[in-house]
Amino acid sequence: MFSLLVAACLTSVAAQAVPYYDPRLTGGSMLTFQNEPINIIVSALSSPEALTDRGLYNYGNALGYADDCLGMHLGGPQAANLGDGNGYVNQTQMLREDFGSTPIGTCLETLIGGNHYRVFRQNGSKANSGALFLAASKEDMVEKNNIFPDGYNIGRDEVVAKATGGVVSFSSVDYTTTVEYVSGLLPPGAAGINHNISIDGQTAILTIS
Ligand SMILES: *[C@@H]1O[C@H](CO)[C@@H](O)[C@H](O)[C@H]1NC(C)=O
Ligand SMILES: *[C@@H]1O[C@H](CO)[C@@H](O)[C@H](O)[C@H]1NC(C)=O
Ligand SMILES: *[C@@H]1O[C@H](CO)[C@@H](O)[C@H](O)[C@H]1NC(C)=O
Repeated sequence: MFSLLVAACLTSVAAQAVPYYDPRLTGGSMLTFQNEPINIIVSALSSPEALTDRGLYNYGNALGYADDCLGMHLGGPQAANLGDGNGYVNQTQMLREDFGSTPIGTCLETLIGGNHYRVFRQNGSKANSGALFLAASKEDMVEKNNIFPDGYNIGRDEVVAKATGGVVSFSSVDYTTTVEYVSGLLPPGAAGINHNISIDGQTAILTIS
């Protein structure tokens, strides 16, 4: 039992030695299969609890985001290849801006537009950072299936603004988040981007405590 615990600790330490691995170096991409930019990375150097499914969900709640509208996944899941050897894997979570009138707050986002992000985890054996990769965008009405003009940059910036605006809390957990912007992971411009929407090429690296 003791050696199992030690092994588990060593494994998790090893998995968090780096903030993230650049997916492109091992055959992955910073665009989803559907060509949306992955414009936020939650660093694997964040507090381990924040990197779990439950932890990231709670963090999303603290930012004013909530589960997809009544489990309806309008628009369908997207998939990403983070270069970790797992190939294309569907998103593990999708959170939408919550307009508050529960239980339909996120349905309102689905219907009238707003911000959302999809979450992918880099945990395959070829690049096992444990980092979370987020594709954030601001959306127009679902009928039009449109992202706002500049909706990828805006989607990222709105999440970052909420995350870094001070301490946020949910379920008695307090979060402090720092951000650093990295260029070069995503190409600036609209070439190859879904809906032909131009991006500034910046990726926000969040470290959550
Ligand atoms: C990923 O999502 C697609 C589209 O909804 C679905 O057809 C596919 O079965 C999903 N793959 C897995 C492994 O869940
Ligand atoms: C990797 O992450 C995915 C998505 O969250 C999860 O389903 C899977 O169990 C994880 N794999 C390992 C080995 O932890
Ligand atoms: C994308 O936008 C550029 C610049 O506005 C335009 O020249 C190009 O034709 C567009 N491409 C597509 C596929 O719509």
